[in-house]
Amino acid sequence: MYTHLQERFAPRPPVNIGTLNKMKADGQKIACVTAYDASYAALVDEAGLDVVLVGDSLGMVIQGHDTTVPVTLEDVIYHCKAVSRGLYRPFLMADMPFMTYASPEQALNNAVRLMQEGGAKMVKLEGGASQAAIVEFLANHDIAVCAHLGLKPQSVHKVGGFRVQGREERDAEQMRRDAKLLESAGADVVLLECIPSTLGAQITSELHVPVIGIGAGPDTDGQIMVLYDLLDVTLGRKPRFAKNFMAGVDSPLQALKNYGEAVRDQSYPAPEHCFGTPNAVLEAPKTKSNTSVKTSSNISKSAATKQASSARKKS
Ligand code: KIV
Repeated sequence: MYTHLQERFAPRPPVNIGTLNKMKADGQKIACVTAYDASYAALVDEAGLDVVLVGDSLGMVIQGHDTTVPVTLEDVIYHCKAVSRGLYRPFLMADMPFMTYASPEQALNNAVRLMQEGGAKMVKLEGGASQAAIVEFLANHDIAVCAHLGLKPQSVHKVGGFRVQGREERDAEQMRRDAKLLESAGADVVLLECIPSTLGAQITSELHVPVIGIGAGPDTDGQIMVLYDLLDVTLGRKPRFAKNFMAGVDSPLQALKNYGEAVRDQSYPAPEHCFGTPNAVLEAPKTKSNTSVKTSSNISKSAATKQASSARKKS
């Protein structure tokens, strides 16, 4: 079905680290999204978005797991290869899955595979100060690294759920210190997930490198969304920061274009997509635990499970 994906007319040169740094310096917002296959990657490119992440969220939205923990390096390489075939302009980032960067040597070998086999230009890993040595080792080997702070889905079993992070002063201070340490260790981009907007703004202003947010408020240098949240391919209740860009449009391409526009004109994220501190007005909608975050995947998984069991009953 697809031929010559790389030969499409591309009026703008491919995005690189320099482009992202310049966008931060110029105050131009960076529009990012996840993708898992060549067809959607090509649409993301066509829509003019800047960065594509082959996220380990694929374990939840593609594979149907409850968490990202079961995702393997082979899984990410497989999806990364497909995505890289669909892209020309956007910068391609790939997640290092759970326990694929437990030592500097392991991290280096696996990052090299993501780049050489998968076509990734940057690798992303989760962690704070404890990962600084790994980030430094990769950076010293000229590997571009994104450090993921805030809600770290690979730590879900240690933390006890998907929770907004950095609401307590002490945790917020620790996150600010971690972000600076990771930047000094050589991280080229920092990604912040599910933290109060004020903390997102503070960390962004304190770092020289671009900061991308998901549920981290409007003031980060860019935004990222899970593709399936953006296209509303999730049943049931959505994460607070998810906006359905399919509403009122008739194609995924138009939804992606509108998302890019909304990030650039800063109409996304709106206050209802953001988290506040405990005393602020912007509380997450009440759930059994009012700090637990519904992710697209745990919602779609439970809805899918219900559907499957009702289908089984009918048959
Ligand atoms: O795996 C993923 O999709 C991510 C995003 C939530 C940023 O890490």
